[in-house]
Amino acid sequence: RIAYVNGQYVPQNQAMVHIEDRGYQFADGIYEVCVVVGGRYWDMEGHLARMQRSLEELQMTSPMDMRALKVVMAEVVRRNRLKDALVYMQVTRGVAPRNHAFPPEGTQPSLVITARRFNFDQSDEKAKKGVAVISQPDIRWGRVDIKTVGLLPNALAKEAATKAGAAEALLVRDGMVTECSSSNAWIVDETGAIITHPKTNEILGGITRQTAIACAEELQIKVIERPFTLEEAKAAPEAFLTSATSFVMPIISIDGAQIGAGKPGPVALRLREAYKARAS
Ligand code: PDD
Repeated sequence: RIAYVNGQYVPQNQAMVHIEDRGYQFADGIYEVCVVVGGRYWDMEGHLARMQRSLEELQMTSPMDMRALKVVMAEVVRRNRLKDALVYMQVTRGVAPRNHAFPPEGTQPSLVITARRFNFDQSDEKAKKGVAVISQPDIRWGRVDIKTVGLLPNALAKEAATKAGAAEALLVRDGMVTECSSSNAWIVDETGAIITHPKTNEILGGITRQTAIACAEELQIKVIERPFTLEEAKAAPEAFLTSATSFVMPIISIDGAQIGAGKPGPVALRLREAYKARAS
């Protein structure tokens, strides 16, 4: 596999970053994940816009303009001979002697882009069955709206889910479901309206979430942005999650309690089809 690292395309097993990179020492960096299906980027503009915002929120400069970035992304996919790919982009503040405050003389940001095969059919197979999730406490910091590489609480929650045989962890703060460890969380109410946490500092504003809202509006499905409780989710007729890599993924159980009929619900499946049609 070939990676792009600070201006060069290198075999991934030979790619290196400095041990005093602030991304490594302070998680002082941001990232994006998006997919390419059949050579087409899904929601690319949204991901690049959010990347720009993450950089600005951390007072970081972009290592290259967004047009050049698109070219490099495409080149990484091409060099890995991928048609369906998951592209990972990471920007850190760069290298400096370890000190919490930013170096006054500034740093050269580090940019890494990798790509790996994305199995589109496997995702559809999974969606046909739906996934189990468990709840976990949301112990993250107050600015999870910034897509930083500081993902230890997310990793711990996902590990707990994996150990429990579940696909995701629903994160709960003060009794309310915020989102999942690497996706946004949704429920459907009795009227068929879809509910998700509002876009605040307590969730990552998912690009798939945004596109799913647009799809719902087209399908004349009512969208309600408000927090919901774990109990409400467990009693909901349907639940699902959204992310760049899972699209719209039906949830069939929460903490072992069956959701609806214990199989993917009609609203989630309709939205998934609409998302796939729109995003491509
Ligand atoms: N995760 N919430 C969190 C905490 C996330 O990490 C993600 C994405 C999302 C969904 O955002 P989007 O729809 O833009 O992918 C929500 C990516 C896929 C990851 O970390 O791999």
